[in-house]
Amino acid sequence: MADLQEIGAAREAQRLARFVEAFGAALEAGTAVKLVLAKPQGAEADLEKVLVRPVTIRGEAHLAFVFHHTTKDVTRNLPRAKGLAEVAEGLGKTYRAAHLLLVEGELHLEWNRKGECTLRRGKGQGREAPSLEPNREKQRLLDPSRPWLRALGLMDARGVALPTMAHKWKQVNRFLEVFGGAVERSGLGAMEAPRVLDFGAGKGYLTFAVYDYLKGLGKTQAKVVGVELRPALVELCNREAARLGAGLSFRVGGLEGQAPEAVDVLIALHACDTATDLAINLGIRGGAQVILCSPCCHKELRPQLQLPPVLEPLLRHGIHAAQQAEMLTDTMRALLLEAHGYEVQVFEFISLEHTDKNKMILATKHPSGTGRRAAAAELAALKEFFGIRRQTLEELLAK
Ligand SMILES: C[S@@+](CC[C@H](N)C(=O)[O-])C[C@H]1O[C@@H](n2cnc3c(N)ncnc32)[C@H](O)[C@@H]1O
Repeated sequence: MADLQEIGAAREAQRLARFVEAFGAALEAGTAVKLVLAKPQGAEADLEKVLVRPVTIRGEAHLAFVFHHTTKDVTRNLPRAKGLAEVAEGLGKTYRAAHLLLVEGELHLEWNRKGECTLRRGKGQGREAPSLEPNREKQRLLDPSRPWLRALGLMDARGVALPTMAHKWKQVNRFLEVFGGAVERSGLGAMEAPRVLDFGAGKGYLTFAVYDYLKGLGKTQAKVVGVELRPALVELCNREAARLGAGLSFRVGGLEGQAPEAVDVLIALHACDTATDLAINLGIRGGAQVILCSPCCHKELRPQLQLPPVLEPLLRHGIHAAQQAEMLTDTMRALLLEAHGYEVQVFEFISLEHTDKNKMILATKHPSGTGRRAAAAELAALKEFFGIRRQTLEELLAK
């Protein structure tokens, strides 16, 4: 028994050593894009993750560690060898998972509850070689002194995020990073007067941020409209928007019963259940270049799910059935978007304040506008396998 434990421990030590070696080799070769140290445990309860990336400081190779806490980010630069030693020291003790993103491929090291460690290779997408400029990640896209940030209760008079809103401030900036990437990749970059619709705009933080961002790009003719169910919020946002010019406005409304209108960017964050399907349908029918959704509550497919007997246990526990329904729903949405000429990315996004859901679907219209041909066949096969009879987005698009 003791022998088996020793063999197990030796294997885990080997995996850890292989991971650290791979990181060192990739740094040497200039192919290490980023290392994410995740699942932290230790004294700093609010530490969420640490991003490590190669930088050159005064001509010397360094590693920049950005410690992401709930309300602040802290950066530390260490000479490369020292930084590498610190990573090796923390793995398995301070961090229970690490994800190494390379120009080609990925490497994932993870410990389970029993303390067993696995090392997994992933294909990943081709990534750009890293820029070695320091402090690139610290820059915020939004100017903290903008008056609307104060008027909407995000910032204080000094342009510092209120303690309860620090998370929101981080989220709005992260959203703009995603949005900015989509602008660059899509036809929006060339448009003088892009039209944006933000459904479920709430207090309008993202709507204002998008408007400011587009104006910052010189798109002074941009038309950004926030649509929100609660009239009091619409009134508040319109009062503040009036100070910024005619391009930003809010109106009372819901996704239900909306007729499609021409739009270049459609945003719908946390539209419940099939409301996300309504939003995607409006985006596709309105000819949107970019559709950004963060889906929430996936109820529609769950009662329809069927699996062959060998896989039935996957649906036995409510939480697993819900996870399966969520994955299938968003996969079907991604395939439908692809079939309609969009490139789709599904990834983790900072959660909103009212929900722990943190998935983002980003669809960017392919320049050719032609759909991926295999997508429809993949969709049909998935539906048959899972016994799905109806899905709202598919029905809306078929009309
Ligand atoms: C999480 S909150 C606001 C999020 C906002 N986009 C932000 O990030 O600041 C979601 C908002 O959507 C609104 N809402 C819920 N269902 C809606 C629907 N079907 N159509 C439009 N708005 C909706 C709610 O009133 C709420 O203000």
